[in-house]
Amino acid sequence: MEVTNVSEYEAIAKQKLPKMAFDYYASGAEDQWTLAENTNAFSRILFRPRILIDVSKIDMATTVLGFKLSMPIMIAPTAFQKMAHPEGEYATARAASAAGTIMTLSSWATSSVEEVASTGPGIRFFQLYVYKDRNVVAQLVRRAERAGFKAIALTVDTPRLGRREADIKNRFTLPPFLTLKNFEGLNLGKMDKANDSGLASYVAGQIDRTLSWKDVEWLQTITKLPILVKGVLTAEDARLSIQAGAAGIIVSNHGARQLDYVPSTIMALEEVVKAAQGRVPVFLDGGVRRGTDVFKALALGASGIFIGRPVVFALASEGEAGVRKVLQMLREEFELTMALSGCRSLKEITRDHIATDWDHPRARLLAPKL
Ligand code: FNR
Repeated sequence: MEVTNVSEYEAIAKQKLPKMAFDYYASGAEDQWTLAENTNAFSRILFRPRILIDVSKIDMATTVLGFKLSMPIMIAPTAFQKMAHPEGEYATARAASAAGTIMTLSSWATSSVEEVASTGPGIRFFQLYVYKDRNVVAQLVRRAERAGFKAIALTVDTPRLGRREADIKNRFTLPPFLTLKNFEGLNLGKMDKANDSGLASYVAGQIDRTLSWKDVEWLQTITKLPILVKGVLTAEDARLSIQAGAAGIIVSNHGARQLDYVPSTIMALEEVVKAAQGRVPVFLDGGVRRGTDVFKALALGASGIFIGRPVVFALASEGEAGVRKVLQMLREEFELTMALSGCRSLKEITRDHIATDWDHPRARLLAPKL
């Protein structure tokens, strides 16, 4: 049957993938409250569309860190894409490039920075996990830079891996034919089987729990690439990110895979946007499944959004064609949302085009007393 929206790929992926792989992609941490909330929260934001505006031409183009994109919809880093499809990150890179948008490559990709660069031109960001061994980090960042990556997305919400119970039950580990390709030459490319999640053990062994704000500054001494701090959920940390020299902020709860019972990212977004005061762009990832979701994020002040799971589920279902289709469907839905809301360009999308449930107290204050 024809796929007509992004969410439909999840059920197809579930049929196609081994249980261990599907569960790894799909699950969130612990009770998975935040996982449901990431998508549910969007449904509590409603539109205040404007009518009778000439919407015969809609312009979705934008720039991110100075790079021209066809739309504000980008690809978040997700690990181990070859577990979804043999072409893995190659397919994602090609699909992103064809759509005129950015792919973020995970540190834990099953294809190296050099391999992804070899797929052809494209604007790509590199997601960084900071290892205890800083020589490893410095080497990797240098390689990403040389391979033409344009920014570092520094993931700051993972001093330890969140408790993903499906991975524990499945004793999750990479299939034997796959490695963490970026680390292969550094003897850190293999993930051993463990008594719980193999990934959680790998993280406990290799990832630096001492990571702190001064390391954001250290990172700037080893690279000229702009740094996006990925995993900010509060105004306080937005201000600290800017102080530490971040070029941008990604409001993210890691697809609800780290701390459970943090708010959905769409609920946290406005607080961060206000704290950033326009000094750096603020992006969002988490739960974006519709063009209407993209619009809502932009109306709350995001400069763009990233998608995670839709890409891996589409990869599992149809490879590169699936990822292309995901980007195309979101693009078309977003364009339609703009038209039906009376917005012809991204700068015409305003806070007044939506109403959120946290607007109500204000509405009550303004309402005449009964
Ligand atoms: C992720 N995410 C992630 N983030 C990161 O910084 N490095 C990584 O390697 C990964 N790997 C990863 C794997 C899988 C399977 C998922 C689902 C997520 C988090 C990702 O970048 C992003 O924050 C979320 O996926 C966004 O939420 P949605 O779009 O999946 O709801």
